[in-house]
Amino acid sequence: MAKINPYQPYQVELLKVTEESPSIKTFTMAAPPNFHFLAGQFVEIAVPGKGEAPFTPSSSPYETNYLEVSVAKVGATTEALHSLQPGAILGLRGPFGKDYPLEKFTGKDILLVGGGVGLAPLRSLFLSLVHELHLFNKIRFCCGSRTPDDFIYKEHVFDHWPKIDPKVCLRVTVDRCDDGCWKGPIGVVTKTLDNLDLEIKNSVAVVCGPPIMMKFTTFKLLELGYRPENIYLSMERMMVCGLGHCQHCGLGKHLVCKDGPVFTYQEIKDEPEIWA
Ligand SMILES: Cc1cc2nc3c(=O)[nH]c(=O)nc-3n(C[C@H](O)[C@H](O)[C@H](O)COP(=O)(O)OP(=O)(O)OC[C@H]3O[C@@H](n4cnc5c(N)ncnc54)[C@H](O)[C@@H]3O)c2cc1C
Ligand code: FES
Repeated sequence: MAKINPYQPYQVELLKVTEESPSIKTFTMAAPPNFHFLAGQFVEIAVPGKGEAPFTPSSSPYETNYLEVSVAKVGATTEALHSLQPGAILGLRGPFGKDYPLEKFTGKDILLVGGGVGLAPLRSLFLSLVHELHLFNKIRFCCGSRTPDDFIYKEHVFDHWPKIDPKVCLRVTVDRCDDGCWKGPIGVVTKTLDNLDLEIKNSVAVVCGPPIMMKFTTFKLLELGYRPENIYLSMERMMVCGLGHCQHCGLGKHLVCKDGPVFTYQEIKDEPEIWA
């Protein structure tokens, strides 16, 4: 049954905590009955007595029993979340905001480019795409992290996902490796965007990561011939209500919680604080 009061959180049980990297954990929660989200939308998670923060689910929208968020520890609420053990009770509001428009991706080559915890929404999107792989052409997933240790979803990125289907190809890179343990490419994620073997004119690109990474990736995609309306960006801003009421999440004339968090570059390219 739909919830009447969008400020009233569901009470959900934390089922599992997975340590992905030194600063990022994935939290698996029991999904409330009839709870559905779409890849790209976000939820507000509350740690009782500590605070509430927005996160994009990283699990597949087709999983109805649980949902997952992958969270970087950066401040009070995320620190409180990182200290929790399975069995804890969390507040969950949402889902809110706009999803990735998969109907516009049908029949196209799809490029996903993610860095750090920005891989979280892309994991959810990737799992949605492979769920209906026959609808899409080639899928290229370019993933970057600062060091090999900082990579999240290691098991999936290195073992499972590359074997899904010949249409799917992963490219991984790290900014640096101090102990020589990394045998793959070294360099920022934009370096993985050369020789993509995609039909750019019939392709969409989806980017998520730190602002500086999103900026240089977008510029590289434009150089490669992607049109601004075919580049999708997941934007983050400080949020309070998540519902379009408080105006905390302004991005120029847009509210990220309501008009986003998924925007095309065309929609926001003229906003001066786009990469802030
Ligand atoms: C739509 C959306 C989806 C998000 N999805 C994820 C996700 O999947 N995983 C994840 O780890 N994080 C995600 N975030 C960011 C996450 O919400 C913030 O890291 C979190 O709110 C920080 O809360 P805190 O109380 O721990 O930190 P605070 O004490 O509030 O802040 C710590 C530091 O982080 C900065 N900060 C806080 N919120 C943001 C923000 N939204 N953007 C930029 N800087 C911020 C503050 O300025 C401060 O410097 C998302 C944000 C949005 C808006
Ligand atoms: S968070 Fe309140 S208007 Fe967007």
